[in-house]
Amino acid sequence: MARETWATRMGFILAAVGSAVGLGNIWRFPFITGQEGGGAFLLLYLLFVVLIGFPAILVEFVIGRYTELNPVGAIRELGSGAWNYLGWLFVVTGFVTLSYYSVVAGWFLRYTLIGVTDGYALAGPEEATALYGSVTTGLDSLLFHAVFMALVIGIIAAGVRRGIEVGVKVMVPAIIVVLVGLAAYAFTLDAAGAAYAYYLTPDFGYLAANWTSILPAAAGQAFFTLSLGMGVMITYASYLGEDRNLATDAGIIAALDTLIAVIVGFVVFPFLFAAGIEPGGPGPSAIFVSLTSAFTGIPGGRIIGIVFFAMVGIAALSSAISILEVLVSYLIDEFDVERVPASVAIGVAVFLLGVPVTIDLIFLGLYDNLAGGVLLVLGSLLLALFVGWVIPDVARNELEKGIGSLGGLGTAWIWIVRIPIVIVVLVSLYLGVVGYVDFLTGGFAEWLAAR
Ligand code: PFF
Repeated sequence: MARETWATRMGFILAAVGSAVGLGNIWRFPFITGQEGGGAFLLLYLLFVVLIGFPAILVEFVIGRYTELNPVGAIRELGSGAWNYLGWLFVVTGFVTLSYYSVVAGWFLRYTLIGVTDGYALAGPEEATALYGSVTTGLDSLLFHAVFMALVIGIIAAGVRRGIEVGVKVMVPAIIVVLVGLAAYAFTLDAAGAAYAYYLTPDFGYLAANWTSILPAAAGQAFFTLSLGMGVMITYASYLGEDRNLATDAGIIAALDTLIAVIVGFVVFPFLFAAGIEPGGPGPSAIFVSLTSAFTGIPGGRIIGIVFFAMVGIAALSSAISILEVLVSYLIDEFDVERVPASVAIGVAVFLLGVPVTIDLIFLGLYDNLAGGVLLVLGSLLLALFVGWVIPDVARNELEKGIGSLGGLGTAWIWIVRIPIVIVVLVSLYLGVVGYVDFLTGGFAEWLAAR
């Protein structure tokens, strides 16, 4: 059967941007930046997007377009032996990532509804934190996790692509407009100056003292936000025509995605500083606490809040879809399962895996540190090794289709993937694993002991 291809180049870019832009930009980026010291983290993160993220997008693009297969099938066609297990890593990563992603996306749905029923008029940061606590644990959290997963399953089961493209086309520009507006309002706060200093001035002393946690955090965030390391971009590029310039497409995706994350920082930190909250303190609640205080203070804040939370929910939907699509296309292509039962079966399994996160937020750390700190980094490392060392000629040829040889840029790319990327990502992975083991034997063990 001939494989469907993207109707337009725009369609492909929109879907890939839809996957990249999501909770990683709006929820994960500001809280990790806060935890990792602000400017020092921002600097490393930006470097990683350009030097590692961009070439790594191309790694996934060439594999997908060359094989026209799902990631598991693609690796099997190109590699042999132990490489075949790489597909399993993607499947595991997809399960873990989507399970808690859906829970957090559910919180955004819940906050949307809170705007409709009650508005965001809160007395102060304590109340904002209390609201966050009530949204994120218990039955509410479970219910909205279920609603979100039902939406993801429905879209994937129906195989609708048109909907995604239109959604992204409207949503991404709208998110940027609202964020810029909020950032402009944040600029008027007295605390803005201190917040900008924190966010934009890299403290090199801090970086030197804390690089073992900042480095893996920046690498993990770069892969997470660009949807790398679990085959999503392989899947999307597998539907792509040969005449496309992969490098331009990768550049557009990385640039838009980074722009959105960076603007979020200009919103979150001024509001945290204005509320007298330590930027590293709130963790995963950072965006919610800062936004609810923003919407409390702004005229028309209630409407803006409802619209914004809903838009983030939709942005999360287009990202979640890309993860479930990897899992489902695997089941369809490899085991000949029909699309609808495959979507429902996997979707329900993902939902169940996410349930512990709705019960206790310690599981959010357990899942998020595993996915962002270890699994996505490992997946990206193995993909870089695979393209750089196992199929370099195929990869370079594939990149040059639609671009031309560009005076040896393809060769340069292969060498960047082969050595510098492999080294930096390997170090990040090592540090990420050490950090995760610390978490398991520290915070998580204490939590278990207290049960
Ligand atoms: N990139 C998405 C975001 O920033 O929200 C999350 C994501 C999607 C991560 C797909 C990984 C992935 F494979």
